[in-house]
Amino acid sequence: AQKIIIDTDPGQDDAVAILLALASPELEVLGVVAVAGNVPLALTEVNARKIVELAGRSDVPVFAGCDRPLARALVTAEHVHGKTGLDGIELPAPRLPLQAQHGVDFIVETLRREAPGTVTLVPIGPLTNIAEAFRRAPDIITRVERIVLMGGAYFEVGNITPAAEFNIFVDPEAASEVFGSGVPLVVMPLDVTHKALTDRDWIEAMRALPGRCGPTVAGWTDFFERFDTAKYGSLGAPLHDPCTIAWLLEPGLFHGREINVEIETEGRWTTGMTVADWWRVSGRAPNALFLKDVDRDGLFDLIRDRIARLP
Ligand code: BDR
Ligand code: CA
Repeated sequence: AQKIIIDTDPGQDDAVAILLALASPELEVLGVVAVAGNVPLALTEVNARKIVELAGRSDVPVFAGCDRPLARALVTAEHVHGKTGLDGIELPAPRLPLQAQHGVDFIVETLRREAPGTVTLVPIGPLTNIAEAFRRAPDIITRVERIVLMGGAYFEVGNITPAAEFNIFVDPEAASEVFGSGVPLVVMPLDVTHKALTDRDWIEAMRALPGRCGPTVAGWTDFFERFDTAKYGSLGAPLHDPCTIAWLLEPGLFHGREINVEIETEGRWTTGMTVADWWRVSGRAPNALFLKDVDRDGLFDLIRDRIARLP
């Protein structure tokens, strides 16, 4: 199986991504590392443990990473995700303990232990932990197989400022270091995820699944939809983060281009912007597969069929 580490700030859509990964035998989740983002770290690490436990996978270790961006004050998104970060359905307090090791040290140690080029990082929150791991241990950078991340926007511009997507905006310095690291990147920007919109039939199909995970996902997406439909005037809510895991499972669902992407860290209006050279006008070497389109129905069928396998 493909070995992955999920780095996350759950987040209802993060939660669906984690469930999708844990439901998929093609993937071996070596660990889940929490980061500050949608809500503070003290909540994201608890949420991560609740999700792993919900999936019946208490064998998967959960770590806490960085509690703030590299160089800025934390910006959170309770207005999207609710006070807990996982509003919509209440889950029991987790029995699964938090690992004592710092999440960044776990990332470093795992990449040093596993064979080079066999571990993929899947960051679905701000990129703080990944950048911090690369700072602490530059020797691990060339050992990473690839990074498949949710972040950025180009044609769809921003969701937290007019120019920037939330995950990149929260820690643009970290994003800049990761995009400049030389590790092959697969980037799921808003251009893709704003096409990955839930609809009523899908949510009701999830609610009707036997077991607890399907109805829980329905509860989360119900909550998530309230905000997004008001904001975007769309019929459903974008399931951003599961697109990363879906790409690992079925890359053919997505289309994009190998291009150069730079991160704006000093803009007056554009800090956190992913400057994507879609038309290849800069002459700068490509550093990312930047996705733009998704087979929406294929994606939602995949998520439903996989989560149906969970308890
Ligand atoms: C990203 O920001 C978070 O609110 C979501 O979980 C997703 O990772 C979308 O901009
Ligand atoms: Ca997220």
